[in-house]
Amino acid sequence: MALSKPRLIDLHRIADPRGNLTVVSEADGLPFEPVRCYWINDVPGGCQRQGHAYFTSAEVIVPLAGSFTVTTGSPGSADTSDFLLTRPDRGLYIPPMTWRELHSFTVNAVALVISSTLYDETDYIRSAEQFNSLSATSDEI
Ligand code: TYD
Repeated sequence: MALSKPRLIDLHRIADPRGNLTVVSEADGLPFEPVRCYWINDVPGGCQRQGHAYFTSAEVIVPLAGSFTVTTGSPGSADTSDFLLTRPDRGLYIPPMTWRELHSFTVNAVALVISSTLYDETDYIRSAEQFNSLSATSDEI
């Protein structure tokens, strides 16, 4: 149903004896033009974020600090993939129509999310049942 699969992408890191600098833009290999970014931090132990999919938004999620796991795939099914994100120069590309959940945050974790669209609540699929139903319909076509 998704236009393509989630995949890890190596970001453009410019190594320097003074420290690393990493840059994202389409010219630097981002799969879309970045329009918005937001970040998630101070996640209490055991909490999960982003249990949803988007109709049109694509995102790249980058662990700026600490680590966390992104699980993609149909919620409640065995058909899921876990991506442990640990490196601030490696992000996870998530195409539209992909259910994702972020969990297992370390205490210092900061998740930077780069989006292809502006915030639009109507672009969200927040119900796992709706998502699975849309997936099933799409698979039949
Ligand atoms: P939400 O998408 O529900 O968080 P999660 O990533 O855990 O699914 O967003 C939490 C709240 O923040 C919600 O009320 C919508 C709001 N929000 C914005 O106003 N603008 C944004 O760009 C984002 C990502 C969220």
